[in-house]
Amino acid sequence: MTTTIAASQRSDAAIFGNLPATLDWMGDFDGELLLLDQTILPNEVAHLRCNDVETVWEAIKVLRVRGAPAIGVAAAYGVFLGIRGDWRLEAEQFVLKLEKVAQYLSDARPTAVNLAWAVRGVRSAALAARDGGSRAMAEAALAAAREIHREDIEMCRRIGEVGAHLVPDGGGVLTHCNAGALATSAYGTALSPLYVAHRSGRRFRVFASETRPLLQGARLTAFELASAGIDVTVICDGAVASLMHAGEIQMAIVGADRIAANGDTANKIGTYSHALAAKHHEVPFYVAAPHSTFDLSLGSASEIPIEQRSETEVRELGGRRWITSLARCRNPAFDVTPAGLIRGIVTDRGLSEPVTIEKIQEILSNGAWRGPG
Ligand code: MRU
Repeated sequence: MTTTIAASQRSDAAIFGNLPATLDWMGDFDGELLLLDQTILPNEVAHLRCNDVETVWEAIKVLRVRGAPAIGVAAAYGVFLGIRGDWRLEAEQFVLKLEKVAQYLSDARPTAVNLAWAVRGVRSAALAARDGGSRAMAEAALAAAREIHREDIEMCRRIGEVGAHLVPDGGGVLTHCNAGALATSAYGTALSPLYVAHRSGRRFRVFASETRPLLQGARLTAFELASAGIDVTVICDGAVASLMHAGEIQMAIVGADRIAANGDTANKIGTYSHALAAKHHEVPFYVAAPHSTFDLSLGSASEIPIEQRSETEVRELGGRRWITSLARCRNPAFDVTPAGLIRGIVTDRGLSEPVTIEKIQEILSNGAWRGPG
């Protein structure tokens, strides 16, 4: 079932123009999760109404909701939807169901650490309310999901404030995939500094690489930046190096799905090639991510699981086959950019530049970011 959330219902309508909300929780304990169906953007705008965990899981799996922070928030509400109907169970049975639902959602996509982070947060909040019984646990799960949602908006807003000064006035900015408002609860990560810079009067042009095979750059980044009145040009993924060579790109900024303790960053496939081109052309290459995207349990990227998606996504375009069935296709959804290629990581807690274990630890231990300088 689908519906739409009117742009006028959003408090940030002034920044995003008519961009529809990525997700929202409507109502209270008996409410429902609305997810913008990103598989049909920009041609159709419709929100999927989720009243059960299976609908949320499917939406994450097929990328109706996508982007590391947004899938975390969706999964957080998904945990609640998965247990809400069971609040009359004995606490012991209820906890078993909670564990099952948490595992089910965590397995939907493997690379973005925000998913497991958010599910863990809701699970812990529910377990902490165990003494109050099953209904209290369910209510605590909803409250935790709402808090994760609120915190995501706040983290993304801060990333914009931390990173806006990096955006070159009068220059070209490359971004890959979609790490904007559509990939988060609002503002985005990589695009958040661009919104803040735009609002403060900086003029720049954004190059959005199209991001084969699912075209998040072409379909989503172009749609959201254009809705906000930001100058955006879509280019083929293969055009990046030559535009850098021609001096048209002064900065690159991308999002992240998981960042290891040393700064190695997993992000959408193609990010690594853009970072290599940036290094060669001395274009500063930045990553932007909330602290929930760091996985400090991993020393380096070698342990980050890379999602392998169906070969059909490569083989077909617009529902039509373009590749002979005699050829195989491969579809790794993410790659890893080594820390050495990244000039800085913009987080809600400050800017880690240079990208070293020590600097990352220092920034993340800041707690709340207290403003520039
Ligand atoms: O497969 P997707 O569309 O979920 O991939 C999204 C990305 O790679 C984003 O860059 C990343 O999740 C950061 S979103 C703020």
